[in-house]
Amino acid sequence: MSESLTGKVAVVTGAGRPRGIGRAAAIELARAGADVVVTDLARPGPRVAGIPTVAEDEEGLQDAVTEIESMGRRGKAFPLDVTAEADVVEVIDRVQAEFGGVDILFNNAGTPVGVKPFLELDNEAWDLSWKVHVMGMVYTSRAVIPLMRERGGGVIINNSSASGLRALPGYAAYTATKHAVIGLTKTLALDFGVDGIRAVSICPGDIDTDMTDLGMALAVEHFGVDPDQQESLAPIDTIALRRRGQASEIGKVVAWLASDGASYVSGNSMLIDGALMEGI
Ligand SMILES: NC(=O)c1ccc[n+]([C@@H]2O[C@H](COP(=O)([O-])OP(=O)(O)OC[C@H]3O[C@@H](n4cnc5c(N)ncnc54)[C@H](O)[C@@H]3O)[C@@H](O)[C@H]2O)c1
Repeated sequence: MSESLTGKVAVVTGAGRPRGIGRAAAIELARAGADVVVTDLARPGPRVAGIPTVAEDEEGLQDAVTEIESMGRRGKAFPLDVTAEADVVEVIDRVQAEFGGVDILFNNAGTPVGVKPFLELDNEAWDLSWKVHVMGMVYTSRAVIPLMRERGGGVIINNSSASGLRALPGYAAYTATKHAVIGLTKTLALDFGVDGIRAVSICPGDIDTDMTDLGMALAVEHFGVDPDQQESLAPIDTIALRRRGQASEIGKVVAWLASDGASYVSGNSMLIDGALMEGI
């Protein structure tokens, strides 16, 4: 890709895990020329099946900064819990002070805590799913939109999921809140298009990240899936391309959506799933 994002400043949430979509997108945004601020929780959070659902330390963020800087861009890491509005405001204020504004926001933070049989899914898991997937995006969008307006426009890319367009059994809180991301994105596109701000949802399918491994562990624990019979949550023969996606394949789409190549793309939801058959 040419350096179509030179001079742009991007903020990415949930970018702390080395195999994650957030990290991959941060690298692709930098490769396309942007300076990139990476953020993530960076403290212990909920575990499922004994596996941490969150980035627990700042190491992953610092590694991302090192990689961004190795490409000649500016990088910066901030620990950030997207459910804490005051912290979101503080981080965006610091980005404004140090980078002069924000042009690209990739709302990527996500949690699998809402994956459980419906009758066992407690209010805490519903609340956390809503707070991370929806209110986190509300807080970051509310903080950056005035800055984007000052710069004459910007792009907000919200990471929904194929589960934002369809349903998987046992995914109630994940599915409902990822559907809400698509509604929120459409509204942002309508309300702020007049300011030159585009808003787009992406809907990845089965991508090879820690969260997919968590999803599989949950399926084994709660839904009786036999890992010897099924290696992945979406059996490979249900994906037309016959493989899981890589985080970098999502990151490249994010960098394109952020670029002028996508200047007339707004309000829609882009499936990136290798033609996952149930999703078509
Ligand atoms: N992996 C897939 O197949 C897939 C498919 C569709 C959508 N997604 C979405 O992609 C996004 C990234 O997921 P991933 O697969 O790269 O997994 P991941 O676990 O690497 O990324 C999720 C990140 O969100 C962070 N996070 C969780 N709670 C947070 C909070 N309160 N504040 C800030 N950060 C928080 C975690 O620390 C983690 O780094 C998520 O929104 C996920 O729902 C993933």
